[in-house]
Amino acid sequence: MKWAGGKSQLLAQYDRWFPRRYGAYFEPFVGGAAVFFHLLPDPARHRVRLSDLNQDLIEVYRTLQTDLEGLIRRLAEHAGQHSEEHFYRVRSWIPEDLESVDRAARTIYLNKTCYNGLYRVNSSGQFNVPFGRYKNPPILAEPRLRAAACALEGVELAVEGFESVLETAQKGDLVYFDPPYQPLSVTSSFTAYTRWSFGEAEQARLAEVFRELASRRVKVLLSNSDSPLVHELYQGFPIHLVRANRFINSKADSRQAIREVLVCSFR
Ligand SMILES: C[S@@+](CC[C@H](N)C(=O)[O-])C[C@H]1O[C@@H](n2cnc3c(N)ncnc32)[C@H](O)[C@@H]1O
Repeated sequence: MKWAGGKSQLLAQYDRWFPRRYGAYFEPFVGGAAVFFHLLPDPARHRVRLSDLNQDLIEVYRTLQTDLEGLIRRLAEHAGQHSEEHFYRVRSWIPEDLESVDRAARTIYLNKTCYNGLYRVNSSGQFNVPFGRYKNPPILAEPRLRAAACALEGVELAVEGFESVLETAQKGDLVYFDPPYQPLSVTSSFTAYTRWSFGEAEQARLAEVFRELASRRVKVLLSNSDSPLVHELYQGFPIHLVRANRFINSKADSRQAIREVLVCSFR
């Protein structure tokens, strides 16, 4: 999936900070799961739990576990019918009224064909990104779906808020937090992944959860913007600077390298 704030381009910079050894793995803002697919923690050895508040997204991962062939068939049908008209028809379907496999296929189809691969919903939770004019969108990427399904075997999935990690994470486990970023300016904010917003109060709550986990000697890593609030909230922990090319909220030509941070609970 294309996902705003996707981490694929940062993995090489992150590698030196991620611990080699850890127990269970938790990723509570999983989004496109770039970090999970990179680390590939083994659920046969330790618990692996991926979660997010976005139910459409978690349904995609669940369907990869339970009905890969059905999902591939549905996506092949969407690919065969792809047009602007088909896009708006599929967009108007109410996700909650669909069977899981149809809901997952809808999410992937819209993700691959909408403008910029954004996920944005209105206040009642209805997906509202317009049609993206791509020549050949990769609606059905079968080898990638099969590889993803393989990686997800035995992984726990949940629709839940990030605080739930406090219930189970223990000493030696690894938690990677990738929250919606604290905006650097008012206009750069992009927080519409779900109908719930993520403001300063949530950033502060997340920092409390981070501190609690750190005090239990859980290994915690957290990505965020290089903003004054983030430095203030994580004072006392190592904060590493990383460079990213971001272009999510306006025209592609305003893409530029910006600094982000990776906060670690350990040295
Ligand atoms: C920056 S994105 C994660 C990007 C991901 N690391 C990737 O590589 O694609 C943030 C994610 O947090 C989710 N989210 C927002 N508020 C949340 C909350 N309170 N608890 C859990 N997840 C939340 C959003 O749905 C979104 O998928």
